[in-house]
Amino acid sequence: MFEAPLGDDVFGEDPTVNRLEEYVAELLGKEAALYAPSGTMTNQIGVFVSTRRGDEVLLHEGAHVFVYEAGAPALLSAVQVRALPGEGGRISPETLRGAVRPENVHFPRSKLLCLENTHNTSGGRVYPLDDFAAAATAARGLGLKVHLDGARLFNAQAATGIPAREWCEHADTVSVCSSKGLGAPVGSLLAGDAETIGEARRVRKAFGGGMRQAGVIAAGSLYAFEHHEDRLADDHERAAKLADGLRDAGYSVDPPETNIVLIQVGEAERFLGALAREGVLATPMSATSVRFCTHLDIGDEEVEAAIGAAARITADAVQQ
Ligand SMILES: Cc1ncc(COP(=O)(O)O)c(C=O)c1O
Repeated sequence: MFEAPLGDDVFGEDPTVNRLEEYVAELLGKEAALYAPSGTMTNQIGVFVSTRRGDEVLLHEGAHVFVYEAGAPALLSAVQVRALPGEGGRISPETLRGAVRPENVHFPRSKLLCLENTHNTSGGRVYPLDDFAAAATAARGLGLKVHLDGARLFNAQAATGIPAREWCEHADTVSVCSSKGLGAPVGSLLAGDAETIGEARRVRKAFGGGMRQAGVIAAGSLYAFEHHEDRLADDHERAAKLADGLRDAGYSVDPPETNIVLIQVGEAERFLGALAREGVLATPMSATSVRFCTHLDIGDEEVEAAIGAAARITADAVQQ
């Protein structure tokens, strides 16, 4: 990052950003990619470029785009979202077909399906490639575009051995983050065909995401994509160890598929406060469940520390 050659990326003249965008486009099997400050922004640019005011976006009821992006589809794209149920973050072709609106003056136009892989709120579940292809094919057959929120797409690759680009084949736009398990400090990319990404560049400017000498941070993102994809498997192993330890400590734990471990607790906020006092940070997933996440900065020692802290909290709760 210190040595990155820099230029003005709003003019398309930052060589490090350009290298990163070309690298990620190639990696995902797309014509072009665009660097932006966050996964929220790349998702929301993805929503904007595939819809018009008053359209409807279909997604899973636990989707990040729906739950955790501050109402941005309504705020930025003036679209309506329709949240659909589905096991493990998946949307079946039948559910999708039942939800897409027929052409009629009364209805919003169904324009975009957003899928997420891995799926955060279901505990980092992989979207199986066949199921993903089936949902995307059904959507495209109904005239919808498909956006893939691949904030943790490389975790799906690490868990299955299937190259990330195979999921991308079934999506028109793909968002990926360098700042999650891949370990860069900041930065996400939106990939797609050259025309869509050209339009996305305008939208990024309008959303305030055009950054000048962005090569400083893009160098960290490039390093992450070039060097850290393979090490995601270590995070998965540590998540499995963490899950075993938490289960042994008496918690009800969903078996992790990737780097996210969900556990049930009596009261999430109280549990998290106690955990923070022990020096371990996690996030609430609901009023009664908590999410642990393993990543580049979490080693074996940290996993042991988290298990120890959680075990002491249960012991304290029992003593009360
Ligand atoms: C599935 C998913 N998509 C998108 C994002 C948004 O990324 P960012 O925090 O960079 O806005 C996250 C963040 O946790 C996420 O889990």
